[in-house]
Parts: sequence; structure tokens; C-alpha cells
Amino acid sequence: MSDKTFYVTTPIYYPNDKLHIGHTYTTTAADTIVKFKELQGYQTELITGSDEHGQKIAQTAAKHDQEPLEYVDGIVDTFKLLWDKLEVDYTEFVRTTSEEHKLDVQQIFKKVYDQGDIYNDKYQGYYCTPCETFWKERQLDEENNCPDCNREVEWMEEESYFFKMSKYEEQLLDFIEEHPDFIQPAKRRNEMINFIKDGLEDLCVSRTTFDWGIPVPVDDDHVIYVWFDALTSYLTGIDFRRNEEKFNKFWPADIHIVGKDILRFHTVIWPAILMAADLPLPKQVFGHGFLLVEGGKMSKSKGNVIDPVKLIDDFGVDAVRYYLLREIAFGSDGSYSTESFIQRINADLANDLGNLLNRTVAMVDKYFDGQISAATVETEFDQELEQVAQESLAAVAENIEQLQFSTALEELWVLIRRTNKYIDQTEPWVLAKDETKRDKLGTVLYNLLDNLRRIAIVLVPFMPQAPAKIWEQLGIVTDLTEQSWDDALTKGQLEAGTKVNSGEPIFPRIDLEEYYEQLEEVEEEEGKMSEQDYINFEQFGKLDLRVAEVLEAEKIEGSDKLLKVQVDLGAEERQLVAGISKHYAPEELVGKRIVMVANLEPATIFGVKSNGMILAASNDEGDLTITTVDRDIAAGAQVK
Ligand code: MSP
Repeated sequence: MSDKTFYVTTPIYYPNDKLHIGHTYTTTAADTIVKFKELQGYQTELITGSDEHGQKIAQTAAKHDQEPLEYVDGIVDTFKLLWDKLEVDYTEFVRTTSEEHKLDVQQIFKKVYDQGDIYNDKYQGYYCTPCETFWKERQLDEENNCPDCNREVEWMEEESYFFKMSKYEEQLLDFIEEHPDFIQPAKRRNEMINFIKDGLEDLCVSRTTFDWGIPVPVDDDHVIYVWFDALTSYLTGIDFRRNEEKFNKFWPADIHIVGKDILRFHTVIWPAILMAADLPLPKQVFGHGFLLVEGGKMSKSKGNVIDPVKLIDDFGVDAVRYYLLREIAFGSDGSYSTESFIQRINADLANDLGNLLNRTVAMVDKYFDGQISAATVETEFDQELEQVAQESLAAVAENIEQLQFSTALEELWVLIRRTNKYIDQTEPWVLAKDETKRDKLGTVLYNLLDNLRRIAIVLVPFMPQAPAKIWEQLGIVTDLTEQSWDDALTKGQLEAGTKVNSGEPIFPRIDLEEYYEQLEEVEEEEGKMSEQDYINFEQFGKLDLRVAEVLEAEKIEGSDKLLKVQVDLGAEERQLVAGISKHYAPEELVGKRIVMVANLEPATIFGVKSNGMILAASNDEGDLTITTVDRDIAAGAQVK
């Protein structure tokens, strides 16, 4: 294995709620660049995790009547499930509540404190809890809200530790100047430079009004500010303090991938902390754009949150990852819509790629009984096809390097479409009619299959399942995971003589209308469930269910269904009417402890007063059984 290394991080997500498609976008991008680097022979690390401390999480847990750790445990499980479904190969999942992480954060804090870069003072200013950000009055928006998320801020006055961020202003500006790739995309670089040039203030790095956080190592009354804590997870993930060799091998990180909303934390606060801690700065921070729905932000209140798990269940992981990376230029905002999703999948995956595979394998079946021929002659189109392949693959690599996934895929599709065109140019169905052109026909099919082999390798970073399915249909038995980028670049590695396995289309066409109809049906079903089948706890609490002992029972004259029953309800006796005469003889009931509804409105049935109802189960075949209790419990006991 080569000793080239590549270390990528995703943000560590707040476990205050389940993740949506926007978070999935960030992680898919990170996983893709890492898988690409692996193909190129790098040793890689991909770190993700959960940002579990701070005021926001403490408040959310309280709303759910849970302890913070208990609350986040449940949500963190859903994160891991999502990453598994998305087939993300992360090397470490950092939970900020882990003991290792706590010690890492405390060590960095202590180091910076010991050298005099952290001091005690009083904070006066505003705080945005959703963003976990401190703001000065002059920074608020026109409505005096958070300038980032435009939500309400709260006034805060508390004793705090401060990090001397101002001290690093010049050093940071120099670094950004000397490392033009540090902040990407370039358009966001100037924004950050201007922010720093506006003047860096010292940063409040501890809180005292709640205790859900890592204690300040020199003062137990304070917990460390959640962003100081969270950013340090990038060190925890590669065994800072615990494995010096590994840490030195991977630090500094090659890329921190983040959304544009948190670029400032990563290009101002984080580098300043690292400078103070005497650690090298990451090579690059990439702030991508936002995934919008109907042109706006996703939010629970708007009801437009797209659930990635449902999307993967409905369309498969390959389609979801492909769409996210192809549809939106990484760095710019873009909109999700079901229409554009289905259109993309149909046009690019079902048509261009799926058909290329289907047509080719079907022709090998038809003309060569499934056996792959060797390429023995040349056609007049081969050179150009290979030239397009080389140019396309070079452009794919270059664009992935720049995290321009959409352009990378567009470039790959140039090759896919060109390969489709090769079929139209060479007209295998015409060659097949002429026995003297058999070698040429074999060569054409070989070239098509070999290009599909290469295309599948290139797709490995983007899609976890389709490449192996393509190889399976090509009849290749070599393990795809052992392939390298060079194998994609090299023509002619497909072995002649083996047999193809034609199979189902790897990307069946999706019918938009059918999909909508299906959705409507599901929604209708769910609607029925919620209207008819659910009651809330309060409603349930209104039912007074009790155990009662049958004292006497007798038939009601004139009715073959009804029995008059006297029961002991503990504190009182009751009379009720029960429609069970066809199933129980009166004497059979006496002494039984049954369950009854004690607070049902009284009624008179067949002239007999009924004050309550015996519960019984019945089925369509006419069987009936009354509900009894299977242990000794006094009459009158409540059932709940
Ligand atoms: N916990 C912090 C990150 C700490 S990293 C040391 C945080 N968490 S978050 O869960 O709110 O957001 C995580 C990431 O998801 C951010 O990069 C954010 O930009 C991204 N996204 C959240 N919604 C998004 C979209 N709608 N579209 C694209 N990315 C989005 O911030």
C-alpha cells in the first residue's frame, strides 16, 4: 500500500433531530472524495460524528422530558442507520460525549490556558441558541435577530473564560493569503477575509448557566463552549493523544467539508485555536451550498423536510447519491424536487447508462451466445472512442479533486453517451448479417463491454451498488474493490472468452405519475390510521377500565342474546346487560373476574338498567370470549 494519505471530515451533526437530505448531501460528498482517493491508492480516513453538548441539545432533551444523554443516544442511532443505508465508509464516528473526546478537548483548552491565551472575564451580549453563536448588538440583523439564521437571540450576562482570538488576527490573514486553497470555493474566501479584517474579538469559550458540556479543566463551575468542543472532534477522530503515529500521519486534515453556514467557525475560530495549540492548520475547508426545497429552507414547520431514508427506500442508494452529486454544483445552492429527481434518474441512469449495458449484453447473448470475443481488428471509430475515454476520465479525476462532483459526472456521461453512439456508428446488427465481418462484430462488442468495465470502476466513489451489478452482468469475477483508478484508465483489461450474465435493468425507469399515486395511497392509509386508529393518551385516560367479579347472571326474558349480570366492583355492586347469552350460560359466568368499562353512560336495554359494559373479543366466525384476568387481583382494580 502506498504511503500517501488523505483525511476528510464531515461536520459532526447536532443530534437534536433526525437528519434530513441536506445533511445527507454533505456526507455523500465527503464519502465520494474519500472513495476516489482510495481508488487512487491513498490511505484514507473519513471522520463523522455527533455534536452532543450545549444549550440547544440540553433544551431539546428537556422538552422531551429526557436526560440529554438518554435523548441523544436514540438520535445518534438514527444517524448511524442513515450512514449505513447510504453506504458511507466512515472510519470513525466521534461522539463528543465520549471519554476520549472529553480528555482531548480538556487538554487543548488547558494548553491554551496555560500559555495565557484564555482568561476569565464577564460576557455581555446576545446568544443564538440554534446556531450556538455569540453576537454583539451591532452584528444583529435589522430586526435584532441572529444575522445567520434570523431567529430570536437572547441577552446573556455571565462570567466566562475568553480565548484571545484577536491575538491571531494577523497570523490568520497571512495564512489565508499564503494558502489560496485554504478556503474554498474562492467566492467565499473574500467573505471570510472581510470578516477577519473587520476585527476579531476575543471569543467566549465557557458557559455557566447550564452544565451539559465538558467541564473547564481549571474551573468546575464552567462547561466548555460547544463549538470549541465540537471542532476538536477532528483531532479525536484520528486518535489525538492516544496514537501519536496515526495522528501525525493524518493531521493536518486534507479537507473539512462543511456547509456555508458554518464556514466561519472553520476558517476563523478553528484555525485560531489550532494556532494557539501549536498544531498545523487543515489544508482546506470547503463550504458547500444549501439544498433547498421549493426555493427555501427545509423546516418542520413548513412540512417540507425531505427524509433521506424514505428516498433511499423508494429509489435506492445509488439514485439518491447520484442525484445529490449531479444535480447541484458543489458550492452553490440548489433545489430538490421529486420531479427533477425522477427526471435525472430516468434520463441519466435508466436511459444512458442502463440501456448501454442492456443493449450491449443482449447483443453478446444474441450474436455470440453470451461469450465475450477478443478484439482482433480495428474499426474506424475506435481511436476516437479511446480518445474520448482518455479525455473524459482525465476530466472526471480533475473535477473530483476540485470537489466539482456535478461536472465530474457530466464528464463521465460524455463517455457513456459517446459509447452509446459507438453502437449507432458501428451498427452491430448490420455486421451480424455478414459472416465475413464476424471479427469486427466481436471487436465492437468487446470495446463496448470494456468501456462498461471502466465506467463501472469510475462510478465506484459515487455509487455503492451499481458498479458491482455492472461487473456481474459483464461476467467479471475479479473483485471490484481491488481495482484502481489506473485500471479504469487502461483499455483492454476485460478477459475474452468469459460469459456475460444478462440480468434485470440496473435502473428501471420510474413513472412519475405512478409514484405520486403510490404516495397518495400511502398517505391515505396513514391518514386513516391517524384518524381512526389512534387516540391520544389523554383520551385513553378517560376510560375507566376495572376488574369486576360476577356475582349473579340470568337470561333476560324475550331476548336470546342478553344476560342481566350483577358484578362486584370493589367499592360497589353494579348491574349491567351483556350480549353474550349465545356464548355463555349464566352459571358459567358466576365467580369469573372480568374486565369492564366502569364509566360508560348508563342505558336501559330491554327494560333492564345497564351501568357499565363487559369487554369481550369476537371474530368474523362468530366466536366470542369475555376478557378475564389471569391472576388473583381484587375486584375494583383499575386496568390501564
Ligand atoms: N454541529 C454543527 C457542526 C459542528 S462541526 C465541528 C452543526 N451541525 S448541523 O447538524 O446543524 O449541521 C451540519 C451540517 O449540515 C452543516 O454543514 C450544515 O451546513 C449542513 N446542512 C444543514 N442543512 C443543510 C441543507 N439544507 N443543505 C446542505 N447542507 C445543510 O452545524
